[in-house]
Amino acid sequence: MNYDTDQLRKWALKHLWMHNADWSEMAQTEEPLIIVEGSGLRVRDTNGNTWIDINGGYASVAVGYGRQEIADAAYRQMKQITYFPQRTANPSTIQLAVRLAELAPGDLNRSFFASGGSEANETALKIARACQHRRGASGRYKIISRRDSYHGGTGGVLWLGSAAGSPRTDYEPSPPGILYAPQPLAYRCEFGSTSPSQCATRCADEIERLILEEHPDTVCAVIAEPIASGPGAAVPSDEYWPMLRAICDRYGVLLIADEVITGFGRTGKLFACEHWGIVPDIMTVAKGMCSSYLPLGAAIASESIAELFAGENRMLRHVFTFAGHPVAAAAGLQNIDILTKEQLVQNAAEVGSYFKEQLQELRAETAILGDVRGLGLMLSLDFVADRQTKAQFPKSFGFSERLNTQLKNRGLLARSHANHLLNLSPPLCITRSEVDEVTELLRQAIHAVGKSWKEKS
Ligand SMILES: Cc1ncc(COP(=O)(O)O)c(C=O)c1O
Repeated sequence: MNYDTDQLRKWALKHLWMHNADWSEMAQTEEPLIIVEGSGLRVRDTNGNTWIDINGGYASVAVGYGRQEIADAAYRQMKQITYFPQRTANPSTIQLAVRLAELAPGDLNRSFFASGGSEANETALKIARACQHRRGASGRYKIISRRDSYHGGTGGVLWLGSAAGSPRTDYEPSPPGILYAPQPLAYRCEFGSTSPSQCATRCADEIERLILEEHPDTVCAVIAEPIASGPGAAVPSDEYWPMLRAICDRYGVLLIADEVITGFGRTGKLFACEHWGIVPDIMTVAKGMCSSYLPLGAAIASESIAELFAGENRMLRHVFTFAGHPVAAAAGLQNIDILTKEQLVQNAAEVGSYFKEQLQELRAETAILGDVRGLGLMLSLDFVADRQTKAQFPKSFGFSERLNTQLKNRGLLARSHANHLLNLSPPLCITRSEVDEVTELLRQAIHAVGKSWKEKS
C-alpha cells in the first residue's frame, strides 16, 4: 500500500496530540515516524524503512508485533459478540479471569478488568480504601508510594511516585494523604548506602518509619513496582520485598504490587513478585497481558479482600464502560497462550541474561556507561559524565537528544530519558542473534556520544 507520508505527517502535527510530545519540536526533527507494519521486534514505516523497536512499544509488546493468532482471536470474538448488556458476562472475559486466578501467585483470585495500567491502579486504590472502610478502619486513607516510581497518568495515580524531569505543577493541587518513600536503587541510593543489601534494608526501614511517624491507623496501603522502570530497572536486593511484606502485615497496611510492566514474563518469571516469593494483597497488570494488541489491564485482589465486597451494602461501586471487553479478553487469552506455548518467559530469563552480559562487556569499554542493571528483559543503561562521582551530563550537552539521534541513525527505536537513562525492554521473543545485532548498534551509538562528550569536556 502507498502512503502519502508528508501529508500524514502534516496532519499528525496539526491534529494529533501525541504522548509526551511537543509537535513544534517534532516538526523540526522530521517526526513523527509513521509506522504501518510490524513483525517480531521490527516495525516498518510508510517509506518502507525497517526499524528495531528495542523497547517493545512502552515495554508492552510481549509476544512481538504481527501475531496473526491474536488478530484472529479478536476477529472471531468480534463476529460472535462485541459487547455485553449490563449485568451480563461473556465466556472470554470469564475465561480470562479464571486464567489470571490460575496464574497469579497465592490467593490472588478475583480480577476487576480495566483498559490499561492507570485504570488498574486507580481500581486498586479504590479497592484498598474501600477495604479499610469495610474492616472498620475508615481513618486509613494514606497511600505510600516511592519517589521515581510511575503508576499512571490519571487523576488519582498521577500523584503517586515522582520523576525529577516531570513536575506535576500544572495539575496542582495534589490530593491529601500521598506519602513518598525512597526507591531501593543501589547505584544511586538516597542514603548513600555502600551495598545493594544496605540500600534495600534502609529503604524498607524507611517505609516502616513513615508508617509509624504518620501513625499506622492512618495508613491504607503501600504501592510499589517490584522493579521500577522510572529510575531505570531498579532491581532491589533480595531483602526488600520480604521486608515490605512483613512491614505491611505488621501494621495492617495493604501491599499493592504494580506489575504493569513486570507482569507476564518481562523479568524472566511470569510475575516479578515470584523472584522473592511474596504475594501482594492486590496486584495490577496491563501491558504484557495483551502485548498491546488491545487495551487491557486488571486489578487482581486476594480472596480475603474480595470477600469484603460481597453482601448487603458491600459491593464495590466501580465501573469502566470498556473494562472486561470481550474482544480484548479474547486477544489477551490468545496472547497468554503464545507466551506459554513458546516459553517466552523462559526466553526472557535466558536471552535477558545473555543481553545483560553483552551490555556489561560494553560497559567495560565505554567510560560514559556507568551502570548496566535489570532482570530478564527489563534492562537499563545508566550513563554518567564521570564514573567516579556518577555525575550526570550538564543539561547543555543534551545527552538524551544526542543518544536518541545516534540510535535513530542506526535504525533503533528507543528513547533515552532523564538525561542519563536508556531502558531496554524488547519483545520477549528476541533471539540471541538479534541481541548481538542490537548490541552492536548500541555500541556504535554510545561510542559516538562518548566521543562527542570527550571532545566537549
Ligand atoms: C509501572 C506502571 N504502572 C502503570 C502504568 C500506567 O499504565 P497505562 O499507560 O497503561 O495507563 C505504567 C505505564 O507506563 C507503568 O509503567
